[in-house]
Amino acid sequence: MLMKPLIFCLALLSACFLAPAQLPTHWYDHAVIYEIYPRSFQDSNSDGVGDLNGITAHLDYLKDLGVDAIWITPFFPSPNLDFGYDVSNYTDVAPEYGTLADWDHLVAEARKRNIRILVDFVVNHTSDQHPWFKESRSSRDNPKRDWYIWKSGGGPKDPPTHWTSIFGGYTWTWDQTTEQWYYHIFLPQQPDVNWTNPDLRKAMFDVVRFWLDHGASGFRLDATPYLIEDPAFPEDLDPPAPGGPAALKPYNSGRPENHQVLREMRHILDTYPGDPVLLGESSTATIEDLAKVYGKNHDEIQLPMDFLFGNLTKLDAATFKKQIDAAEFQLGGQTPVFFFSSHDHPRQWSVFGDGTHNDQIAKLTAALTLTQRGCILLYYGEELGMATMPAADLKPVPLGPKRPRADDRDGERTPMQWNTKVNAGFSEGTPWLPVESNFKRYSVEMEKKNPASIYSWYTNLLKLRHDNAAFRDGSYVPLESGNPNVFAFGRKASDNEVALVVLNTSPAPQSVHITGMPGTWPGFQHLLMASPLAPVPLGQTLKIAPYGVLIAATK
Ligand code: GLC
Ligand code: CA
Repeated sequence: MLMKPLIFCLALLSACFLAPAQLPTHWYDHAVIYEIYPRSFQDSNSDGVGDLNGITAHLDYLKDLGVDAIWITPFFPSPNLDFGYDVSNYTDVAPEYGTLADWDHLVAEARKRNIRILVDFVVNHTSDQHPWFKESRSSRDNPKRDWYIWKSGGGPKDPPTHWTSIFGGYTWTWDQTTEQWYYHIFLPQQPDVNWTNPDLRKAMFDVVRFWLDHGASGFRLDATPYLIEDPAFPEDLDPPAPGGPAALKPYNSGRPENHQVLREMRHILDTYPGDPVLLGESSTATIEDLAKVYGKNHDEIQLPMDFLFGNLTKLDAATFKKQIDAAEFQLGGQTPVFFFSSHDHPRQWSVFGDGTHNDQIAKLTAALTLTQRGCILLYYGEELGMATMPAADLKPVPLGPKRPRADDRDGERTPMQWNTKVNAGFSEGTPWLPVESNFKRYSVEMEKKNPASIYSWYTNLLKLRHDNAAFRDGSYVPLESGNPNVFAFGRKASDNEVALVVLNTSPAPQSVHITGMPGTWPGFQHLLMASPLAPVPLGQTLKIAPYGVLIAATK
């Protein structure tokens, strides 16, 4: 009697296991995740600071754009010396951003539109105003003393090591009350927590459960390389030059001990439904180190951001090909994560623009990321061609409660440009940062009306990514263009349908002869997207316009 259902179940199971390898098995393997800096997205109560209700108000915009998920940078209570990355309470919403009820509402509304939300979890450090640190610093025998990293060194003038912090100065600050030094890889107001302490670990994992229970679909994990330090705290024999890079030293990052922490965190996520994900701020010095971040058994961070790609600042076909090939062939087939812009990176319209062809170049860099296999991150306003505000324009902006500290990254954090009205529609109050002066030209309102706008280009790319099998699920086909200015590659769907992408990173027209396509040249009859427009069919030998983009398929 039981035989039939059993056979049916087995058949179903084997159908799952025999699915073609390139079909994504998780939503995030081909997702587009949109990063929102909540302070700058939409102010709903006219206090000049963006908030959670402002995000909820624009969920239809995000749905129309076609994103799968949003990552919201920290919205927890914070003294805002690092704008939320100095957390003073992990399980609440800062009053300027709203309430927990606003968060619950946002999640519910997002879910209706099939948009997931990732919480930015600052795992390496808290604010010095967090109650845990206040207790820890209160006495040497406080039960939470060991939740942070305290050492005596050689007294008040002689820190335990001479390591340099990422934000400048030593990584140690002397605390007069208990006459010891505490460790911080970032600001002195951001003490590192001690992940080797089991109670701290448990408290942090409770935070993970708290947000998953509140409907988060996972986390963007802040500063993951820096969780645990070399327990010997060796002296730095090769200190960075003043102002030089203090990051990714063998003693301060990428420690083998980090893996166990991330495995335990991942294990918690795996007990929740809906396939929650860890998106890691996992900068590494090499692609081999990046491969390790996924975990030996694919049981750590599913989506480590590829900073080897994301930190590129030169529009150069050969370098792009080198980094994409590396991600494709040296990460063991795991899901790569590509991006250019973020709240820590100047905006790509400004970085890659040559001052004359910035819009066309913005379309090119968008096509470069959004036609790749893997997960792609967009930064709010990238889809409009928002620019980095020049430092000179920010200099006169006063400091105060809304802007406790000037940050050299403020230029990429200016308000979202919704329309041509006052403050670009961001706020009816005084925005905490001014709006970029180009908002009359680059705004949602203006660009939605223009089929040739950067916004229209992005929505078309996102549509292509979702609707076209080669771009949604296809494998990457490395090609040679025979021209150092042109990056060409293919995407191959499980039914062997192939698509072609050709990108000219130079200001001159270029001729290419493409090789490396498996089998005979398929003859690309169907132009899916091009800027500027180009004739079809695309032959193996073709000409491409300055900063041109060609995306074509065989049918
Ligand atoms: C990460 C964040 C950055 C922050 C730093 C310290 O790098 O992306 O904005 O300043 O961590 O928390
Ligand atoms: Ca507000």
